[in-house]
Parts: sequence; structure tokens; C-alpha cells
Amino acid sequence: MGESISHAPLASPIRWAGSKRKLLPILRSMWRSSDRRYIEAFAGSACLYFNIRPEEALLNDANADLISAYAVLAKNPVKLHARLLSIPVDAATYGEIRASKPSTKFESAVRFFYLNRYCFNGIYRTNKLGAFNVPFGRRTGGFPSIEQWRESSKALRGAQLHSGDFESVVRENVREGDFVYLDPPYAVSNRRVFTQYSANEFGIDDLRRLRSVMDHIDDVGATFVVSYALSKETKVLSDGWFSFRTLAQRNVAGFSQHRRKAVEVIVTNDENRLKVRKKDAKPA
Ligand SMILES: C[S@@+](CC[C@H](N)C(=O)[O-])C[C@H]1O[C@@H](n2cnc3c(N)ncnc32)[C@H](O)[C@@H]1O
Repeated sequence: MGESISHAPLASPIRWAGSKRKLLPILRSMWRSSDRRYIEAFAGSACLYFNIRPEEALLNDANADLISAYAVLAKNPVKLHARLLSIPVDAATYGEIRASKPSTKFESAVRFFYLNRYCFNGIYRTNKLGAFNVPFGRRTGGFPSIEQWRESSKALRGAQLHSGDFESVVRENVREGDFVYLDPPYAVSNRRVFTQYSANEFGIDDLRRLRSVMDHIDDVGATFVVSYALSKETKVLSDGWFSFRTLAQRNVAGFSQHRRKAVEVIVTNDENRLKVRKKDAKPA
């Protein structure tokens, strides 16, 4: 028999650069309980998913370590939490864990959650060889309580977890009545800005692929909501759809001195979802 699902909003169990926590009131108001299924193709910390806790969901991210860590949290929350709390928190231990190459899924998840919790600004960045290279952070806060951890685990058990490129996962899975949230990384063309994720994961050409995926979602009778930083590229995504602007905190280049309020554009194919609180939004 399936587990009963609580709908009390949860915070994500992880830190994630680019998380849309600050946009939750707006994004949440665009979801309908009548939506058939929740699909998030660029899940990251999946803060909207944990906040809504829909009955049926599919979470995808290109970051295989992240999705595999979520799967271990779904299956084995108590042992994982105890193990994480048993590890000392200091720069030397962080360095040892960062250099380690675990051979089991469980130990890889321990490494992922530990580095995610204690790294600088919740950034996930790897070098050309794929090795995580973010330094130790300060004032990161500790792990969620065991109660919160268990709830996150329960929430994740309600979702189908997938790691891959957004395009195939959406094309293969989206059905009439689904709600698809798309929150891609900020694509950089020739700008010399290092990305918050792995090198070259999402570029300008991917924006055009994203646009065709949005068209496909509309064709099958599902709803999409896309959030994207206002920029010269935004038009590719918003042309012909309904959109509005709002303010979000954005980490430029991952450093706090470059943190600034940036304008985020929200795009959807369903005009009825635009009835958001006036103080939070204005037409794009
Ligand atoms: C802006 S973050 C999503 C943040 C998320 N909405 C949250 O609140 O935490 C973008 C995510 O897209 C993922 N990503 C990058 N390229 C991708 C691709 N081609 N397909 C799927 N996911 C991708 C990154 O690993 C990252 O987690």
C-alpha cells in the first residue's frame, strides 16, 4: 500500500546556487491541485516541489550525483542522517571528503550531502575532469533535523527520479494535464562568467531547444512555467507566450559581493496562471 502524503510545505534538504526559494509565493500560486502531475526538468534543490508536495511527480536533473543522492535519501534517511552527523565539520575533513572517491551509492550520497552542506554558497562546480572543486564555506548552517530529513525522504519517495537532459525527459514523459516547471541555468554565450554548475552544461543553443520543448508541452495540452533571468536572450523563450517580471536574488559568479537583485521573467502558456499577487509581479 502507498504511503499517505502530507502536504505541509517542506524546505529542500539541500543548498543550491540558483535555488528559486525567493520566488516560491509566485511559483506556488501557478500550480493547481487539479494538475495531473508535477514535472521539474531542471530540479536542483527542487524547492517548489518540496513546498507543494504534489501526489505525483517526476524530478530530473542533468547532475547524476544529485539525483543519485536524492535516491539514497529516499531509501535510507535515518542511516544517512546519522552518518552525516558523525563526520567532523572543519576545512581539513572537508578537503579529505572532497578528495575521496566512494565506491558505493550510499557513501557517494554521504559525500554529496556533506560537501553540499559545507561548501561555499551551495555551489556545485566541477573541474574539466569532473571533480568537485568548490572550497569550504563559512556560516553554512548544519543539517536539517532528523524529522525534517525523514519528511524530505518521504516526499522524495513520491517522485520518480531521473537524471538526464531536460529535452528527452520532457518529450518522453509529458502528458495532457501535466504541470512542467522549467528553471534552466542562466546561459552564457561569450561572456567570461563562470557558471554555477558544471562547465558548458547549458548554452545559448540549449535555449532554442528549450523553446521547442515549451512548444511541445503546449501541443500535448500540458502547462509550462519557465523562470529565466531577464536578458537579451529572454525573447527566445517569451515570444508568443504570457509573461511577467519579478525580482529575484541572483548570485553572479557565485560570490556574495556580486549578489544582487536581478529581474526574473516568468513565462507560461496558460493565461489563467497569471493571477499572481500584484505586489510581486508586473507585466514583462
Ligand atoms: C537554476 S538551477 C535549478 C534550481 C531549482 N529550480 C531550485 O530551486 O533549486 C538549474 C539546474 O539545471 C541543471 N541542468 C543544467 N543543464 C541541464 C540540462 N541540459 N538538462 C537538465 N538539467 C540541467 C543543473 O544541474 C541545475 O541543477
